[in-house]
Amino acid sequence: MTSLTDTIERARLPLAPPTAMIIFGASGDLNSRKLGPALYNLALDGLLPEKFFLMGYGRQTLSKEGFQDQTAAALRQFSRRPLDKTSWEKIAKNMSYHCGHYDSPEDFQTLAKRVHELETEVGEPLQLLFYLATPPSVFKPILKHLGSCGLAQQRRRTALASKIVIEKPFGRDLQSALDLNREIAVIFDEEQVFRIDHYLGKETVQDLLVQRFANAIFEPIWNRQYVECVQITVAESMGVGSRGGYYDASGALRDMIQNHTLQLLSLIAMEPPVSLRPEDIRGEKVKLLNAIQPLHLTGQSSDVVRAQYLSGKIGETPVPGYLEEEAIPLDSSTETYAALRLSINNWRWKGVPFYLRSGKRLKERISEVAVQFKRPPGILFGEGNQHSLAPNTMVMQIQPDEKVTLLLNSKKPGLETRPRSVQLHYAYETAFGSNTPEAYERLILDALHGDSTLFIRSDETEAAWRLVTPLLEHWQEQGKQDLSYYAAGSYGPDEAQQLLAVNNHEWRYLFD
Ligand code: BG6
Repeated sequence: MTSLTDTIERARLPLAPPTAMIIFGASGDLNSRKLGPALYNLALDGLLPEKFFLMGYGRQTLSKEGFQDQTAAALRQFSRRPLDKTSWEKIAKNMSYHCGHYDSPEDFQTLAKRVHELETEVGEPLQLLFYLATPPSVFKPILKHLGSCGLAQQRRRTALASKIVIEKPFGRDLQSALDLNREIAVIFDEEQVFRIDHYLGKETVQDLLVQRFANAIFEPIWNRQYVECVQITVAESMGVGSRGGYYDASGALRDMIQNHTLQLLSLIAMEPPVSLRPEDIRGEKVKLLNAIQPLHLTGQSSDVVRAQYLSGKIGETPVPGYLEEEAIPLDSSTETYAALRLSINNWRWKGVPFYLRSGKRLKERISEVAVQFKRPPGILFGEGNQHSLAPNTMVMQIQPDEKVTLLLNSKKPGLETRPRSVQLHYAYETAFGSNTPEAYERLILDALHGDSTLFIRSDETEAAWRLVTPLLEHWQEQGKQDLSYYAAGSYGPDEAQQLLAVNNHEWRYLFD
């Protein structure tokens, strides 16, 4: 089955088989904010199978009614569409909750027994979709016990084979990612495994492929002859909030760069896949990730900058510095901003720098991929200086607005012939209307259908860790030595400009 079908097209496909979805960590934040609302909106669109059972599993003691109430409250707060009584009741009647420990074989045996009873009640076999919405520390026991209680192997290599969705982080570095993938492979076949990067579920991220490969005008210029550089930015104005404990052990490199920005990079830079089949797309992404050159970590040629936010203002609101946030050690050297300059050693991209940056507590929330083309020679309009002409740039903005912009030079109206940069753009909302599905809706629906195109394969995650692990180790050794700082609400650290200045480039100015 191919992906890249939109929800409407998907609605015309047969529904997924009868399914029991078992969410581990069901009383947690992810389920409340993302999974519950996504399932509810899929139900509203009639995209869940007729027989769909939601089983929560968690350590918290909770009755079935308690779980239902918790979910309904979360839906009221987080669903993109209001709670409709009839649709909600349809889901609620098939919800159950199982209090259990993650390291208890007996609790998993009880879960297996309950699943088999349910299949008997329903009168037909169910596809099992496990969802690990737990901290990574319990991934391994859950995997092990799903194996020992037999649920992981249920109907293996058939259309009804059990499937498992795993939330990031997939390891902390290359070695732990290899270990985790090895543990997973003991219990599940790779076709059963769905590693989520929620950026791949975003409409505009999927559109990167459509823009590139459904338009004949871009592909001929998508290479080192025409492209000057590529800039990928994922900027957030939020701080670490209540996630300090998790974040301080991660930092921007693990939290955003290793996954989200490298995924954006691989989609924008990979070779055309031979088809839209999952393995063809993922195969090209891995090849691209493997072609990225090892980073220079020190000295003049260093490809990296890291920084931490100080106190400042977001809009008019004063906000604390990173070290004053809840659960952050006073001597923390964790980066809340990271910028990288990458070189891709392949035929298409040799010599074209790819710049990645991501940070918290920046001036605004904005994510985009910008492909900057080479400037025209400054003979006619550049008055002998090509730098007076703005470079053509194609910008795919992912958030807050979903839009594509092409920067062109055009004649400024008037009696002189003076070029000026103008924008040609279309916004998703105007072209397609608002109310696009949330990333998790698309991803859960794909997992129900067994379509892994928008999920990360084991070798993809390993390739990404292979690139960033030497840098993580280097920063660990350095302590605070090369850590820069920036004020909350600013554009980020000044040092990030230096990364680009060596190539006579500048970061795109994103904020008003
Ligand atoms: C998550 C990170 O993966 O992505 C968070 O752990 C970050 O720290 C979030 O805030 C950003 O996602 P989005 O969809 O809001 O851009």
